[in-house]
Amino acid sequence: MIKKCSRIKDFYKKNCNERLNILQQFAELNSSSVELLTSSIKNNAFVEKMSENVVSAFSLPYSIATNFLINGKDYLIPMVTEEPSVVAGASNAAKKCRSTGGFNSIADQSMMIGQVHIINISDIQKKQALIQTHKLELLEIANKKDAALVAIGGGAIDIKFKQINEDILIIYLVVDVKDAMGANAVNTMVEAIAPDLERLTGGKALIRIVSNLAIYRIARASAVWSEQELGSELIEKIILASEIAKIDIFRAVTHNKGIMNGIDAVAIATGNDFRALEAGAHGFASYEGLYKPLSNYEKDENGNLVGKIELPIAVGVIGGATKINHLAQLSLEILGVNKASDLAEIMASVGLAQNFAAINAIVSNGIQHGHMKLHCKNIAVNAGIPEDLIDLVAEKMIAKNTISFDSAREILDLIKSGKI
Ligand code: MEV
Repeated sequence: MIKKCSRIKDFYKKNCNERLNILQQFAELNSSSVELLTSSIKNNAFVEKMSENVVSAFSLPYSIATNFLINGKDYLIPMVTEEPSVVAGASNAAKKCRSTGGFNSIADQSMMIGQVHIINISDIQKKQALIQTHKLELLEIANKKDAALVAIGGGAIDIKFKQINEDILIIYLVVDVKDAMGANAVNTMVEAIAPDLERLTGGKALIRIVSNLAIYRIARASAVWSEQELGSELIEKIILASEIAKIDIFRAVTHNKGIMNGIDAVAIATGNDFRALEAGAHGFASYEGLYKPLSNYEKDENGNLVGKIELPIAVGVIGGATKINHLAQLSLEILGVNKASDLAEIMASVGLAQNFAAINAIVSNGIQHGHMKLHCKNIAVNAGIPEDLIDLVAEKMIAKNTISFDSAREILDLIKSGKI
């Protein structure tokens, strides 16, 4: 047998078909596997321009969450997620707070932070003062790199400092990136000012990059779920669950994962960088030294449940994948947003809705109750049930209340033998 070798010269220079041929030979793919890869990219040819070494496009469900009333306006919200019950949960949570006005949400302006870590500096205090006296020049150098951003009122606006040890100084460049996510603009700017910072400090710029801990780009949302809607017992349970998340990090992480289920799904649908959001959210959750839940629940004076959420949401409505991916563009059109802060407000609301839905389910019938019902079609597919029988098998599993591969196959046998 010929030993396979993954060292392929200039793979990235080849076209999609050539890469596919190489892959086919390496992985010994049959023609239907190749057809699967080829057909997936046919209607999504733009993906080839989005990354390197592309051979196909990968599909995920594109769903619409309903019932959202945010800052007095109704929204249908595109969400891309493979996880059953996320969209249903968000829609249900949004429905349950409509009578009390839906979500109120507000996002900060789009300030991002870039960092330059200068090492090997002597007499840091003096050098910091020197940088301070050259602050305007440095901002000008940064802003020369993005005239278009400056023209619309954005750009680098401030420089801050932190000394982390005897000879390392962090320089923070604060940039108003307006309606972009902003990582590219900020990275270009910090790289542009680094040589001058080296000159002024006599040190060496080791790191020059955006920070995903976007603490000046916080989005906040709140909603009220009435006592009439939920009942006082459920409200007490949700508040207790939220308190537990404050003192149990194992719960807090999962609590926040539920929030990000919603936020990431909107991020993907709008072509935004969900990894940046994840990093920022979890960093913010532990910003004060203790990892905390990103939301909080309490009762108002009428016994209603008030939910609040607060986290950095650095998203854009221009540039990057939002522009190249046609579906991402369409998602923004469906949402009717053209400002990054509007999108952040929607996403904070979806995060809160998702979190409410998850806690509500957990402290009531348990997450599996609703989750498995929605999951049973997946189970039927994975159990090898023919496509035309998936709905029927899923329905029968729910009726029997046994949702598993074995149950799906047993039901298939019963259908085949005419017993059901
Ligand atoms: C599952 O994807 C998310 C949940 O675990 C969130 C939570 O526990 O709050 C249900």
